[in-house]
Amino acid sequence: MSSQKIIVANWKLERSFARAQEWVATHRDDLSELAHKAELVLCPDIITTASLGQLLQGTGIALGAQDCSPYRSGKYTGAVSAQSLHDVGCTYVIIGHHEQRSRSTLTDSDYAVSCAMALQCGIIPVLCLGELAEDRFNHQKIKDLFATNLELLYRQYRSNGLKNNKGTLCIAYEPIWAIGSGDFPTADELVDRISSLRDLINTYDAVPATRIVYGGSVTAEHCEFLRDIPYLDGLLLGSSSLDMQSLKKIVYSFIK
Ligand code: PGA
Repeated sequence: MSSQKIIVANWKLERSFARAQEWVATHRDDLSELAHKAELVLCPDIITTASLGQLLQGTGIALGAQDCSPYRSGKYTGAVSAQSLHDVGCTYVIIGHHEQRSRSTLTDSDYAVSCAMALQCGIIPVLCLGELAEDRFNHQKIKDLFATNLELLYRQYRSNGLKNNKGTLCIAYEPIWAIGSGDFPTADELVDRISSLRDLINTYDAVPATRIVYGGSVTAEHCEFLRDIPYLDGLLLGSSSLDMQSLKKIVYSFIK
């Protein structure tokens, strides 16, 4: 598994096609600099993805998407396949983000299938898992949520014969109450959640290296303690990834 930290920038619907291109063109040198510090993945909206891939060439920055369908092909209006993401140069895809789940009828099993679709196309899925505010202090419920989803994910992994795929998987711990709210888990909570995830992952044999990232209201101020959380391999950023100065501060304070 790469020891390099990973920073996934989820641009959501915050940046239009034209603005995304302009931003990347303006900050090309900064982006190249950051690519030496971390594995940085930009996830624009779907229509921007292909053109951004071309603009990012030579910067060392990876391209990601914000979602992919559990279906390979067929009559699924509006869906985006893993194959298309691969064709336009995506190497990562965020799967099951809360903002996507809350508008969808897809289930945990469907998101596990989306992850398998991505893996089959050589794309690393970033599967988002996190608890509701009311479950914040329910340790067992959170552990069950992790266990259920990891079982679904690794079952897909095994049944699709993905065993020999060299790619890695990525799990994003994103407490729903922390996304876009400014609320943040304590260091103790994070140590507990991340090590729970790591322990569960370690119970599976013959699965690829799995990285764990944290997402939800991350700012540079949190990075001092985030970088000391054991087994935390990276961050999933929303708002704070939209501004180059804040992105740089985060990368430089998370990765010393
Ligand atoms: P936020 O978003 O950093 O703006 O809270 C994180 C995410 O939704 O992935």
